[in-house]
Amino acid sequence: MTTESAQQSGRKTEQAGAGTTCLSASRVDLAEDALLELENRVCSHGDTVHYAKHPKIFDTCSGSYLYDRQATPYLDLQMWYSAVNLGYGNKRVNDALKLQIDKLPQLACQYLHKEKIELAALLVDSIEKTFGQKGRVHFNVGGAQAVEDALKLVRKSKGKSKMLAFEGGYHGRTLGASAITSSYRYRESYGEFGDRAEFVPFPYCFRCPYGLKKESCKLYCAQQIERKFEHEYTGWWNPKTGKSEFGAFFIEVIQGTGGYIGMPEGYLEYLARILAERGILLVDDEIQMGFFRTGTLWAAEQFGAKPDIMIFGKALTNGLNPLSCIWAREELISPEKFGPGSTHSTFSSNSLGTATGLEVMKIYAEGDYGKTVKEKGSYFLTLLSDLQRKHPEIGDVGGYGLALRMEMCQADGYTPSRELADKMFQIGLDGDLSLNDRKIGLILDIGGYYKNVVTLAPSLEITYEEMDLAHDLLDLVITRAKKG
Ligand SMILES: Cc1ncc(COP(=O)(O)O)c(C=O)c1O
Repeated sequence: MTTESAQQSGRKTEQAGAGTTCLSASRVDLAEDALLELENRVCSHGDTVHYAKHPKIFDTCSGSYLYDRQATPYLDLQMWYSAVNLGYGNKRVNDALKLQIDKLPQLACQYLHKEKIELAALLVDSIEKTFGQKGRVHFNVGGAQAVEDALKLVRKSKGKSKMLAFEGGYHGRTLGASAITSSYRYRESYGEFGDRAEFVPFPYCFRCPYGLKKESCKLYCAQQIERKFEHEYTGWWNPKTGKSEFGAFFIEVIQGTGGYIGMPEGYLEYLARILAERGILLVDDEIQMGFFRTGTLWAAEQFGAKPDIMIFGKALTNGLNPLSCIWAREELISPEKFGPGSTHSTFSSNSLGTATGLEVMKIYAEGDYGKTVKEKGSYFLTLLSDLQRKHPEIGDVGGYGLALRMEMCQADGYTPSRELADKMFQIGLDGDLSLNDRKIGLILDIGGYYKNVVTLAPSLEITYEEMDLAHDLLDLVITRAKKG
């Protein structure tokens, strides 16, 4: 934004100027260019903002849209990596937060409050109803912190620090979570990871790691996992002692950052049996796919296995005050096994988070998301298939509920094209698409092993008109990206 246009929009502006180090309380709003210049100087680039060539400053949000400082709308098809499932500014959730701000906004987590207990009861009941298992929940703040808590729980109950995890899996970027996240880039510069997980190929059927076809492979990849336990020389198991090196297998039934690829039919049951027979715990990371993203409250319920531990976060509070959580079977997490102080964060079970989480769970209980998300998801998928017919560069489309994928390739429809996906991301973020005489942007997220997959996680409240608009915008973005 130029100084001139900022002034036209009624803002008071000021250039950052060379040597500006901080904002004084009396300082007026900086113009966009000055803010970006300042950010470039004072903010670390170690987070993910500078993945974008031209980072964007947003000002407001509502429903399925973000708005920049010129009030240009951006249709958001990733909703804060699936944290804002119920739409930006959801009134019921926001009101619950506001009420709690006036009632009990702060409370050290060593004391109890009603909302924590009620939320815990709703979560525990829903899991018992779905998976038929009794358990307890344990709160923290961010997703990776909950993953750390799950790691501690496994280490304590199994006495083992080695874990299994999937290639393409993502569990966060703290040190412990990085050790079970497959990307080497996240560990590369940070020394030795003695507890690095053993990474196993995920059943990525479009690009089968064994070059097989789903229709005839007989779950060969799961068979390969079982083979590792055949005898002591395959390295994972001693049949004489009946002991394995591993405490748990951390899974996502649908890989999020890995590109929204799900396990084929029968796979998880097969895997769960292999693990159960060897006393290895199954840890289901629902941080990205939980809370109806896939059309069921928990993604794992569509895949026919009973996890020993579950982890969730993100959409639990619709992206408001962060809250994350682990659930575990009673035998693992009973007070005798996981006593007071086993984990702690000052802000775990913070009262603003629990109050919003409680409202979110009530909304899910009262709504019909099981039906609407699946219906909207299949409609969106037909739109993606239509785009695929038009653009041979879309090698694969797929989805579970409103977790949808579009794999960008070269014209052969198979060779991954990260370049095309990156261009699409930046074109959408530039916010100067024009449709029906309206200036508009598009928020996309890119994932996948080759960083060529557009992973779509729209609001569960997205309308059919907005999905049609998404189709037209994606068409524009792909067409422009292909031109260079
Ligand atoms: C499956 C999964 N696990 C863990 C995490 C880490 O959560 P957080 O970013 O809140 O630390 C994420 C975040 O994207 C995720 O998708």
